[in-house]
Amino acid sequence: MTTKKVTWKSMILILNCYKSKYPLEESKEQVLKQGSFQRLCLSDISNSSSTQAIEDLSISFAGSKLYAFTLEELKEATHSFSWSNMLGEGGFGPVYKGFVDDKLRQGLKAQTVAVKCLDLDGLQGHREWLAEIIFLGQLRHPHLVKLIGYCYEDEHRLLVYEYMPRGSLENQLFRRYSAAMPWSTRMKIALGAAKGLAFLHEADKPVIYRDFKASNVLLDSDYTAKLSDFGLAKDGPEGEETHVTTRIMGTHGYAAPEYIMTGHLTTKSDVYSYGVVLLELLTGKRVVDKSLQSKRGKSLVEWARPMLRDPKKLHRIIDRRLEGQFPMKGAIKVAMLAFKCLCHHPNPRPSMSNVVKILEPLQDFDDVFIGPFVYVAVNENGDKDQI
Ligand SMILES: Nc1ncnc2c1ncn2[C@@H]1O[C@H](COP(=O)(O)OP(=O)(O)OP(=O)(O)O)[C@@H](O)[C@H]1O
Ligand SMILES: [Mg+2]
Repeated sequence: MTTKKVTWKSMILILNCYKSKYPLEESKEQVLKQGSFQRLCLSDISNSSSTQAIEDLSISFAGSKLYAFTLEELKEATHSFSWSNMLGEGGFGPVYKGFVDDKLRQGLKAQTVAVKCLDLDGLQGHREWLAEIIFLGQLRHPHLVKLIGYCYEDEHRLLVYEYMPRGSLENQLFRRYSAAMPWSTRMKIALGAAKGLAFLHEADKPVIYRDFKASNVLLDSDYTAKLSDFGLAKDGPEGEETHVTTRIMGTHGYAAPEYIMTGHLTTKSDVYSYGVVLLELLTGKRVVDKSLQSKRGKSLVEWARPMLRDPKKLHRIIDRRLEGQFPMKGAIKVAMLAFKCLCHHPNPRPSMSNVVKILEPLQDFDDVFIGPFVYVAVNENGDKDQI
């Protein structure tokens, strides 16, 4: 869990990140716009010439207060960032479990939190930290993880989130030596994550998430899925524009082919990444698994694609650990949906709100379960033996 991952993203980020003390440039007027519910864009801040202090981020964003914590306060909350409190580590840095209450700050609800610390020797930096605050500080939705506050002290950059007791989908789905995640849980997660993305895509100022993957889907105690990690998120195209042109960043295996080829980013790029996660939920296999890749000779997507739309072959790709405990009709629909999301061309991919519409009725299980295959043989005495 604590192994440091070197992702394709981190390798590209090395070219872009900067970690020097970088005063947040924002004007009071821009912040005041929040009162009239106009979302502040990342570009509004990075292009502004004003040098308003970073502490001003603690003012209300669309009514949601962000706390500006000191490093000392977060040390207290996490037992000095003790090893035993560590939840995991990604490209940004280590994440620790902590506890905050009104002894730390007046009015602060007593709650368990996750504190993400920028690794000062790592590959991400101030920009990702700032993007997280700008997006998650303003966007609130049941399927987005809640940002409670942040810390900005000297070179230190930290983020404080609501604690998600079941960690990431990646940890839950691919965990070895534990019971397989049931079909109904997989469908609940698929729907929750789809709702989160649909919300971003349909906001007044649409947001392209750009880093949708199993490790960025966090799970609440009842498996409610919430998106985290807005470090790579982008404001969607404006006016007549159909796409945003940007440097290619993301995680190997999840990024849409047209985005890798051209750098053109649209909400449909997120739909492709969503299709990859849906495929991981169906198959129980990681999109990037070097040992399997060399056995199959192709990527998970290329291997599964023809079978996704062929109900007769579908059983070959569905996670064996489910032992047949899934509704066949539902599985055929989900596989077809994954097939559409994984189209090479962005246009035929469904919108995320369509994905939500397709998945919603598949949450009820009135379908026939296949169940494990039982062969009944008649023995020499005419008795029936189950094999
Ligand atoms: N709010 C949270 N509640 C509980 N656990 C969390 C929370 N945020 C992160 N984690 C844990 O910390 C781990 C690391 O998360 P992080 O987002 O930093 O990296 P990652 O998603 O694994 O990798 P990447 O840097 O490529 O996004 C997660 O896998 C999860 O287990
Ligand atoms: Mg992450």
